Amino acid sequence: MTDAAVTLTGISKRYGAVVANDSVDLVLRRGSVHAVMGENGAGKSTLMSILFGLTEPDAGTIEVGGVERRFRGPADAIAAGLGMVHQHFRLFDSMSVAENVVYGAEPTRGALLDRRAAAERVRELSDRYGLGLDPDANVGRLSAGVRQRVEIVKALHREAEILILDEPSAVLTPDEVTSLFSVIRRAADAGTTVVLVTHKIQEVLAISDEVTVLRAGRVSGRFATAEVTGPQLIEAMTGRDVVPVSNAGARELGGIALSVDRATVVEQGITRLDDVSLTVRTGEIVGVAGVSGNGQHELVEAVLGAVALTSGTVEIAGTDVSSLDVRRRRLAGLAVIPEDRRGEGTAVTMTTAENITAGHHRSAPISGSGLAKGWLKRRAQREEATRLMADYDVRAESDQSLVGALSGGNAQKVVVARELSHGAPVLIAEQPTQGVDVGAIESIHTRLLEYRDAGRAVLLVSHEITELQALADRVVVLFAGRLVAEFSRAEATTARIGAAMTGGVTSGSGDAPEGRTA
Ligand SMILES: Nc1ncnc2c1ncn2[C@@H]1O[C@H](COP(=O)(O)OP(=O)(O)OP(=O)(O)O)[C@@H](O)[C@H]1O
Ligand SMILES: [Mg+2]
Repeated sequence: MTDAAVTLTGISKRYGAVVANDSVDLVLRRGSVHAVMGENGAGKSTLMSILFGLTEPDAGTIEVGGVERRFRGPADAIAAGLGMVHQHFRLFDSMSVAENVVYGAEPTRGALLDRRAAAERVRELSDRYGLGLDPDANVGRLSAGVRQRVEIVKALHREAEILILDEPSAVLTPDEVTSLFSVIRRAADAGTTVVLVTHKIQEVLAISDEVTVLRAGRVSGRFATAEVTGPQLIEAMTGRDVVPVSNAGARELGGIALSVDRATVVEQGITRLDDVSLTVRTGEIVGVAGVSGNGQHELVEAVLGAVALTSGTVEIAGTDVSSLDVRRRRLAGLAVIPEDRRGEGTAVTMTTAENITAGHHRSAPISGSGLAKGWLKRRAQREEATRLMADYDVRAESDQSLVGALSGGNAQKVVVARELSHGAPVLIAEQPTQGVDVGAIESIHTRLLEYRDAGRAVLLVSHEITELQALADRVVVLFAGRLVAEFSRAEATTARIGAAMTGGVTSGSGDAPEGRTA
């Protein structure tokens, strides 16, 4: 007999016509790392929510440590020794790390939160697992990787023996993933059972002991990691081969479509973006590499108009937009796939049809006129939405499903479909494939290359060096807010990009930061 920490048997869950889980069996061995894989919408998050007591299954049983349990809510699951880090963070930005960790399970002195005890507890857990957390830091100011660690400490604080991680690495940089994995290993070695949802095959092979693959709600494969290969996992997930897309080279460069000239952003005395100049021509994809927090997000926000430039200018399609707001910049010819699809990217309480066509309403055929306006608009909007959903393989029950009810990867596809379909001369794509499955990554990559080949300009910001190498015609590297290196497609090796990302300058064009004076 294996030592099962958790046994799920015959779990089924249906949402309307969608069968999210169909008689799923899953056994998690104590002290093991168990990966759960599957395409977008395959039912991974649903299964994890059921295990954590957030969703009630229609059928099936949950055993924890050999005892059958019925969870009426997460509190029951926590009491049974489970902890969960969600696909989307659930932290309070205005509170400190320590306050977030103990929230709902506070050490108290009398009726008051014992801040000192809370901070002490965070420090102790942080040391034990090598997390490097500052208990007093304000969560709103932390990077995705650090927030993730706060979520993990939160689960560990509640003495979780079974840790559920739903796509913990989707928003992390490669370095953050490495440190997350060492935390996972330490926890498993100490006897914690870890279940990890991810789309990344290298991660599964690197960290897990066992893998379960879901396809359309059913288990389509069970493997010991040591005995499985990447192609076998892809086959189990998709039922086919997935061939990586690669840039065959830009056809013909046109004029400058996006020009950022000596852009500087200073916020509360901190220089986030430091005298950055770059151009993107029509017919070109320029990749931006950098360790998270080195100015790439500020660069995106500065082009979009979400933060004000302290100095410098931005031109889109020949118009100086430096003093325009976001809406006017979009009208000037800008489309944006933002990093934060739930905050900036979608309105979760609106339908998929409304989200996927948002911003199109100013143009025909969606806007009508006269008495029939409202009705015509709605019908045209639904037709357009249905077409885009089919085109981009957005899997939802219908175009009227709320975006908040879509699986994470399908919500991402909604954003990508909407932004690409504007046909704007300049596209900014920030982590465009986060949370999408292997097949959808290749399809989005193909779309981005087609977008360029249609004579448009793309600025691609990605944590994944392989994604930059697959798509970009040129790669620039940001470090400490400065543009420290630029590489042609041929020069853009992992070693060179990696060195520049950590401040060692080996620019292909000899463009050293010291050479730039303010
Ligand atoms: N609250 C809900 N209401 C309606 N449908 C839902 C709800 N939650 C999930 N679904 C549907 O159930 C299916 C499985 O979704 P789930 O989120 O479990 O997928 P997933 O495997 O986690 O996908 P991803 O990799 O994109 O995160 C999807 O079709 C989704 O739209
Ligand atoms: Mg999910």
